[in-house]
Amino acid sequence: MAGPLDDSTIETIRRAMDHYAVGIFPNAKPASDEVHIAFSRRFGPIQRTPVLTITGRQERIRHPEIIDQSNFDHEGNILPDNDKRLLYKRANQQWHTDMSFHPVRATYSLLSAHVIPPSGADTQFADMRAVWDALPQVMRNRIEGLEAEHSYWYSRVTAGGPEPDENERRSRPPARHRLVHVQPGTGRKVVYLASHASHIVGWPMDEGRALLDELMAFATRPEFVYSHVWSLGDVVMWDNLTTMHRATPFDDTVWPRDMRRTTVREAEV
Ligand SMILES: [Fe+2]
Repeated sequence: MAGPLDDSTIETIRRAMDHYAVGIFPNAKPASDEVHIAFSRRFGPIQRTPVLTITGRQERIRHPEIIDQSNFDHEGNILPDNDKRLLYKRANQQWHTDMSFHPVRATYSLLSAHVIPPSGADTQFADMRAVWDALPQVMRNRIEGLEAEHSYWYSRVTAGGPEPDENERRSRPPARHRLVHVQPGTGRKVVYLASHASHIVGWPMDEGRALLDELMAFATRPEFVYSHVWSLGDVVMWDNLTTMHRATPFDDTVWPRDMRRTTVREAEV
């Protein structure tokens, strides 16, 4: 990752990502934030500012491109059990795709392992093209052309997190996306789903919820899922437009876990 990479190497990685959707880049020691950012930038415009406001949050990492996915406060201490930031992070244990709650979605996320716990905390990925391929035709007909509304706060609160205050809510309004889209690099159809999806646009709430729950149960069956067991220094890159992912539990009030993410966007924002 640190070496000079010519455009054809980047293109090879991009094609491999189109095919596999998840890529693992092992590093003998964790990549520096600078290397992580520079590598990510080769794949498109990257997120440079905080995505939303969480009242009271202070930043531990000085690069605005790095999203701090650790269980630390800004001084590097493990967050206490009832901390709002920890509760929100635990919501990532629901299946989701990054930034679906934004009109300009995330393409790739790159997550770098700086400190890992002795067990647990695997990251799981579901291939949403394989999900489309396996869906019964009647379901395909039902969902093609539908739009879902995605809200960051919806997924936080359903996971047991606190209700956002007015300022937090305003910082991240919901966004709408088609439930089925086409992967440009391959022409394959994809189900675009996430725990952020609250309802189907234009449908009664309960009917939309039932459909989203049914799709979520189908999409996360074991045959569609890869579980990544982290090694220190791994950078895992995934395509948010063709996969869902989730964190799995670990003893997050005992063991430090320092994971850092960059996010590539569909367009500059
Ligand atoms: Fe995520």
